[in-house]
Amino acid sequence: TAIQREAYAAPAFWIDTVDLTFDLDPAKTRVLNKMRLRRNPDVAAQPLRLDGEDLNLARVLVNGGGTSFKMDGAQLVLENLPEGHEPFDLEIFTTCNPEKNTQLMGLYVSNDSFFTQCEAEGFRRITYFLDRPDVMASYTVTLRADKAKYPVLLSNGNLVEQGALDDGRHFAKWVDPHKKPCYLFALVAGQLVAREQRIVSRSGTEHLLQVFVRPGDLDKTEHAMNSLMASVAWDEARFGLPLDLERFMIVATSDFNMGAMENKGLNIFNTKFVLANPATATDLDFGNIESVVGHEYFHNWTGNRITCRDWFQLSLKEGLTVFRDQEFSQDMAGVASARAVKRIEDVRVLRTVQFAEDAGPMAHPVRPDSYVEINNFYTVTIYEKGSEVVRMMQTLVASPADLQGRDGFAKGMKLYFERHDGQAVTCDDFAQAIADANPGSALAQNLSTFKRWYSQAGTPRLQAHGAYNAAERSYTLTLSQSCPATPDQASKKPFVIPVTLGLLSRDGQALALQQAGSADVLPQQTLVLTEASASYTFVNIDSEPVPSLLRGFSAPVVLDDGLSTAELLCLLAHDSDPFNQWEAGQRLMLQSAVQALTQDSAGPVLSDELVAALRNVLRHPELDAAFKDLALTLPSENYIADQLSMVDPQRVHAVREAMRLQLATALQADWQWAWDAHKNNGAYSPDALSSGRRALAGLAMNMLCIAAVQTGDAVTPGRVYQQFKDASNMTDRFNALSALVVSGHALAHDALALFHKLFQHEALVIDKWFALQAGAPDRAGDVLPRVRQLMQHADFSLRNPNRARSLIFSYCSANPAAFHRADAAGYVYWSEQVLALDAINPQVAARLARAMDRWSRLAEPYRSAAQVAIERVAAKADLSNDVREVISRALNAA
Ligand code: ARG
Ligand code: ZN
Repeated sequence: TAIQREAYAAPAFWIDTVDLTFDLDPAKTRVLNKMRLRRNPDVAAQPLRLDGEDLNLARVLVNGGGTSFKMDGAQLVLENLPEGHEPFDLEIFTTCNPEKNTQLMGLYVSNDSFFTQCEAEGFRRITYFLDRPDVMASYTVTLRADKAKYPVLLSNGNLVEQGALDDGRHFAKWVDPHKKPCYLFALVAGQLVAREQRIVSRSGTEHLLQVFVRPGDLDKTEHAMNSLMASVAWDEARFGLPLDLERFMIVATSDFNMGAMENKGLNIFNTKFVLANPATATDLDFGNIESVVGHEYFHNWTGNRITCRDWFQLSLKEGLTVFRDQEFSQDMAGVASARAVKRIEDVRVLRTVQFAEDAGPMAHPVRPDSYVEINNFYTVTIYEKGSEVVRMMQTLVASPADLQGRDGFAKGMKLYFERHDGQAVTCDDFAQAIADANPGSALAQNLSTFKRWYSQAGTPRLQAHGAYNAAERSYTLTLSQSCPATPDQASKKPFVIPVTLGLLSRDGQALALQQAGSADVLPQQTLVLTEASASYTFVNIDSEPVPSLLRGFSAPVVLDDGLSTAELLCLLAHDSDPFNQWEAGQRLMLQSAVQALTQDSAGPVLSDELVAALRNVLRHPELDAAFKDLALTLPSENYIADQLSMVDPQRVHAVREAMRLQLATALQADWQWAWDAHKNNGAYSPDALSSGRRALAGLAMNMLCIAAVQTGDAVTPGRVYQQFKDASNMTDRFNALSALVVSGHALAHDALALFHKLFQHEALVIDKWFALQAGAPDRAGDVLPRVRQLMQHADFSLRNPNRARSLIFSYCSANPAAFHRADAAGYVYWSEQVLALDAINPQVAARLARAMDRWSRLAEPYRSAAQVAIERVAAKADLSNDVREVISRALNAA
C-alpha cells in the first residue's frame, strides 16, 4: 500500500538519547538499545509504535521495569507508557543475523567484516525504533567483538574509550556530538587498515581524515584522500561550511547496494568509488571517485546538519548535494573549457536517463506525492533533475553584479542554515530561504510558480520561434511551453523556465543583445518564461540572426527551436557557448538518425557537409581534446530511441552502426592523426586535460579498428593489441581492449583472456571484464549465450551487487541490440534474473526490473514478448514490495 505525502504527521514521541551496545557475532549479534523518550506535547497522546524488521525480540523494559507490549505487523506497540511529558527510559534487547542479511540493509557481513546501511529504512533491521528522519537523537555506541577477527571497531563521532574484554574480545565506545536521524547511524567492524591525514582548517581547527580499506588496498587510497581534502577545502571556500567533526572517516566495502552513504562522520562507500590507482582504474573511475567523495562529504551539511522531514523531501538533500558535487567537480576541472565538458557530461546523463524516466511508467515529481517502497525513489529524477532545479534557482537569483547567481545563491544557503541548522525540513523551506535571501530576484518574484518544478512530473517542451524584421532591424523571439501528461498528472501548469541565450550572425559573429525598451547591451542574457508563452524583441540587429538558446542547458527541457541544418552547422562551427556548440552537433547527428529510421532511405546516414563539419571540430586547433571526444561521439541508441514514438531496437542499432562506420571510414586519416597526436601522455595524471587527451585517443583508436575490420587491414588492430599489452595505465589499456571487442576483431578473444589473467585478483577490474563482454556487439546472437556462460564463471556471484550489475545490467540495460531479440530470449533471461535477485536483494532486483521501463513503445514482436516477460514476473506471488511496485507501474503503462 502506498504512503502519501499529504498524510505526514509529526511523531507522537521524541527520542532524545540512544545508548546502543552491540555484541557483534556474524550469526547472532545482540543489540541492547537504551533510549530516553518523551511525548511530543504537540500531538495527542497515543501508543508508541516502533518499527522493526527481521529482529528477534528478547526484552522490553520501561524505566527499568517490565511492561506490556504487542506486535502489530512489524511494529512493536507500547500502550501503557507513563503519562505526562516527563522523559522515560525504554530498554529493548534484540538479536539479528548479519551473515544471513543478503539485502545489505541494516547490519550485514561482507568479507568477514561488519557494515551497516540504514538509509532509508534500514535502522529498523538493527533495533526497534522510530525509523523516520524527523526524529533526531544523540547517540552513544559501544561495540564489542573478537579482537583478532575484528581489530577495528568504528561508529559515528568521537572514540571516547576502548579496551580489552575477556575471552579475546575488546570494545570501543563512540559518542556522536551531533544529533542525527537514525538513517545516519553507522558501524563498521573488521580487519581494516587506514590511510590517515591530519589537516588544519581555515579556522585553525585540527581534524583527522581516514580512509579505511582491506589490507592490500592501501595503495589505492591516495586519490580518495586527495578528493576528501579537496572537498573539505572547497565547502569552506565556496559556502563557508567547515568540517564540524574532529574525525572524518571513509570506509570501503565491496558489497554495497548503491554508490556510497553519508553516515555522520563515518561514510561507507562502495569500493568502486574509493579504490583507484593508475594500473587498475580508468579516468572515469578517478572522476567518479572525486565526485562521490565530494557528494558524501557535502551531505555533512546538506543532509546531515539539515535533514529531511520525511522521505518525500529526499531531493532536499540529494538534489542540492548533487548540485554541490557537480559544482565541485567543475571547480576542480579548472579552466572554462574543462568546466564545460563536465557540464556536457552531466546533461548527457540527465537527458538519456532522467528524461527517459520522466517519459515512462516510473515518472514522478522531484518531490513525489506517494510511494510504495522508498528505495525505488532514489532516482535520477530526485538526484539529477533535483540538481537542475537547484541550478535554476541559482540562475534565477543572478544580478548584473553576479551574472551566474553564485553570490546570491551562497547568500540563500547562509540564510537556509541560519534558519534551519539542526532541523528536519522540507523542499519548501529550502526554496523559501533562497528566495528570501534574494528579494526582488526572478526567483523571489515567481516563487510559487517556480515550485511547480517540485510538484509536476514530466519534461517540459519549449518551443521557440524567431522572426526577423529587416525594416525595424529587430528580432522577435516567441517562446511557448507545454508538458506531456505523466501517470498521475494529466495536465500541467506552466513552469518557470530560465532561457539563457545569445544571438549569432549568419557568419558566426556574436551579436550584442539589447531588448526593446532596455538600455542594457549584453553578450548573453537569461529570459525567464513564466507563462504558457511570451515574446521578446531585440533591437539594433542588422541581419537575420541565428539564435543560440538554452545555453549551458539553462533548464531541464526539450527544446524545439526549429533551426535549419545550416543554422545548426553555424552553431557547431561558431557558438561561443561550448554546451550549445556540442548540442548542435548532437542534434545534427540525431536528426540524421531519425531521418534514416523514418524514411527508410538507402544512402549514407550523415550528409557530406555534416561529416566535413565534424572533421573541422576534430581538427580544430583550439578546441580541447575532451570536447572533441564528446562532440564526435554519436548519441546513444537509447537516446535515439527516445526520439521515436515506436521503437525497433534492431533498426536503431543498424542505423547507428551505419553512422559510426561512415564516420570511421570518412575520417580515417583524421582519426589516424588524432590517435598519433594524443596517445603519448607521459606519466599518468587524472587531470581534466590529460584525461581528455586519452579519451580522444581512445575514440580514434576505436574508429580506426572499426574501419580496419571493414577493410581487412591487420596493421592497426595489431598496434592496438600492442597498446593493450604495453599500456602504462588502465585507461589506455581498457580503451585498447574495448576497441578490439567493439570492432569485433579476432584479437579480442586473446586480449580478454590475457586481461583476466592479469587482473584476476582485482575485483573492480574483473567487473569491467564482465561488463565489456555483456555489452559487446551481437554479431551472431552470441552475446546472450556468452552472458549465460559467464554466470557459471568461478568469479561470478549474484550476491555481490557490483558483479551482478557488471554482467546482468550491462546486458539488459546497456546493450539494446543484444537484449531485444526477436526470439524473446533476452526478456526470458531478464525475468529469470529479476526473480533470482529478488530472493536475495530486492533493491538490486527492482533496479534490474526497470530495464523494461520503455517496453510499451517497442515495435512488434518485441512489445508483446516484453509484456509476456513482465507478466511472468508479476505472476510470482511473493515478490518484494520493491519489485512489485516497479512491475505494476510498468504494466499500468500499457
Ligand atoms: N544517501 C546516499 C547518497 O546519495 C544514497 C543512499 C541510498 N540508499 C538506499 N538504500 N536507497 O549519497
Ligand atoms: Zn546523496
